[in-house]
Amino acid sequence: MISRRTIDRVFDLAQVDEVVGEFVNLKKRGANLLGLCPFHDEKTPSFTVSPSKGIYKCFGCGAAGNSITFLKEHENLTFPESVKWLAKKYQIEIEETEQTDEDKEQDKLRESLIILNEFARDYFVKQLYETETGQAIGLSYFKERGFTDEVIKKFQLGFTQESYDGFTKHALESKFNLKVLEQAGLTKVKEGKRFDFFRGRVQFTIHNLSGRPVAFAGRILKTDVKAPKYVNSPETEVYNKSRILYGTCFAKTAIRKEDVCFLVEGYTDVISMHQAGIENVVASSGTSLTVDQVRLIKRFTDNITILYDGDAAGIKAATRGLEIVLEQGLNVKIVLLPEGEDPDSFVRSMGATKFLEFVNENAQDFILFKASGLAEGAKNDPVKKSALITEMVETIALIRDRIKRQIYIRECSELVHMPEDLLVKEVNRVIRQKIVRKEKLGAAEALRADPTAELPARKIPKPEFTEEDEEQIEHGIVRLLLELGNWDIEEERTVAQVIISEMESVRLENDLLNKIMLEVAENLENGVELTAKHFLNHTDQRISGKAIEILHPPYELSENWFAKHQIVITERKHTYKKDFIQSLCRFKLRKVQRMLEEVQEQLKKSHENQDEASVNQLLQEFQQKRLMRDELCKIVGTVVIR
Ligand code: CTP
Ligand code: MN
Repeated sequence: MISRRTIDRVFDLAQVDEVVGEFVNLKKRGANLLGLCPFHDEKTPSFTVSPSKGIYKCFGCGAAGNSITFLKEHENLTFPESVKWLAKKYQIEIEETEQTDEDKEQDKLRESLIILNEFARDYFVKQLYETETGQAIGLSYFKERGFTDEVIKKFQLGFTQESYDGFTKHALESKFNLKVLEQAGLTKVKEGKRFDFFRGRVQFTIHNLSGRPVAFAGRILKTDVKAPKYVNSPETEVYNKSRILYGTCFAKTAIRKEDVCFLVEGYTDVISMHQAGIENVVASSGTSLTVDQVRLIKRFTDNITILYDGDAAGIKAATRGLEIVLEQGLNVKIVLLPEGEDPDSFVRSMGATKFLEFVNENAQDFILFKASGLAEGAKNDPVKKSALITEMVETIALIRDRIKRQIYIRECSELVHMPEDLLVKEVNRVIRQKIVRKEKLGAAEALRADPTAELPARKIPKPEFTEEDEEQIEHGIVRLLLELGNWDIEEERTVAQVIISEMESVRLENDLLNKIMLEVAENLENGVELTAKHFLNHTDQRISGKAIEILHPPYELSENWFAKHQIVITERKHTYKKDFIQSLCRFKLRKVQRMLEEVQEQLKKSHENQDEASVNQLLQEFQQKRLMRDELCKIVGTVVIR
């Protein structure tokens, strides 16, 4: 075990902001840093890092911890692995001491599972090459499929006999214990009898990222029986299906180098492509992609090209799960192979050069592919057409990059002969809905994770809002909207977009300000970004009056106020993001404070009525809102809101 001293040194030297900063784009905000949370999908940053406290915390999903837990969670490492990673980065020498019993057990289990899998792999490989049936049935099968010895050995393909318990016996004789054999899924016990799980199949070894065997898949050879074509090892301490993509350990270097990852369905597709010299390929093993798998790919590249059969089932399989890929910000292309071909058969018949040529010529952007397919199907059918728009809009709404989104909308509008502004409106609507849904979800999750969380800022006094403050806050928001509405606040969204989505269903106290906000929102929905000028010259005199009041307060109305104002705006380029966060937080703070007061009122009532259940629920709500309020207070940096 790594000594306490080493761990302390790691904590001393490993700056949380430096460590997190390797994976997350962080921007300074006061004493803290802010970024997009890597543990949940979000568009507005709520992930903060506090260098002085050495911790990170996400207000969206509740993820929190220090530099070591960050690595554990983010890179899927164990505690010792995280410590070692940091020790290496900071050139700290590692002192090892005795492990605790629990650590030992855990490590031992993982290690013994892998050692057993290594033993099984060697056994399966030996069966393939060194037994008569192995050669006659298994090896000849692989050879018939065109696999070379080199590739069979590299992928550690094997064979299992029809025998009932040949492997289990051999393993027990070699001092492996039954419990681990069962855990690894290699031996089944039924009514006191032990038998091999893999029988009469050719074996595919499934490796982890560092190339050690963690599971197997056995493919049946007989065609006349009803047994499943493939059987797979169960999930274990070392094999998590949703986190592994077949072939990643052999593909990772090539994926980095080629900056694209080919995604295929089957084991044999991966192997055949490798044999042809195309090594940047992994298989989803016939299931939909998971977020973890996509993140795994994202460690090596941002580009995925999916190679699937051209038949209907292939297309369906390809488009399933793709939402995740888009959400993770990867660029997805799809190549449909000629009917009846899979990557395995196709690369064998074409050879690598022609295969890649075909891929290059036929790679279609995934979204446009989907749109054109849908458009084709909906030709002359108005009902289908509206369903098509819904589906397309939902797909486009998943793209985080605003510019990319605009390009897609333009192209799709041509494809389906649909006005562009209509699509813009729809996409914006879906995005807003999503944000609202996620925010609700985030708060609920955080609370569920830790309802009794200690409130770190309990001592922060309750903010008091005077009427004047209220007005100032609303002014601040609308001013931002008008002055800087079309400036980018984050990569994909403008100030106006963020504000409008934050304001969803919130009314401003001041009627005129509320009108302005609504008008901005309505136009934004249609893809029109209204500027200050529009409101300064508004047909409604009261609105233009208000706009002037906000944008050019009396003391600024000197002779050349316009020129001055331009200067102020230019200067704001440097500070507007900070202003933005401040204004927004002040606004939210006011909102939260109100909600708190309401909850308090309700609490009193429930308490008087001795409604235990409702008291408990309200208490939780109260605590959660108070936490939110205290965090907002910290961001705003002051309790007095002026
Ligand atoms: N698969 C599975 N269980 C099944 C069928 C399929 O786990 N009963 C997974 C396997 O990972 C397989 C992939 O889905 O590799 C694709 O299935 P398929 O195309 O049927 O298999 P191939 O690997 O292409 O096998 P072959 O070429 O030998 O038919
Ligand atoms: Mn196949």
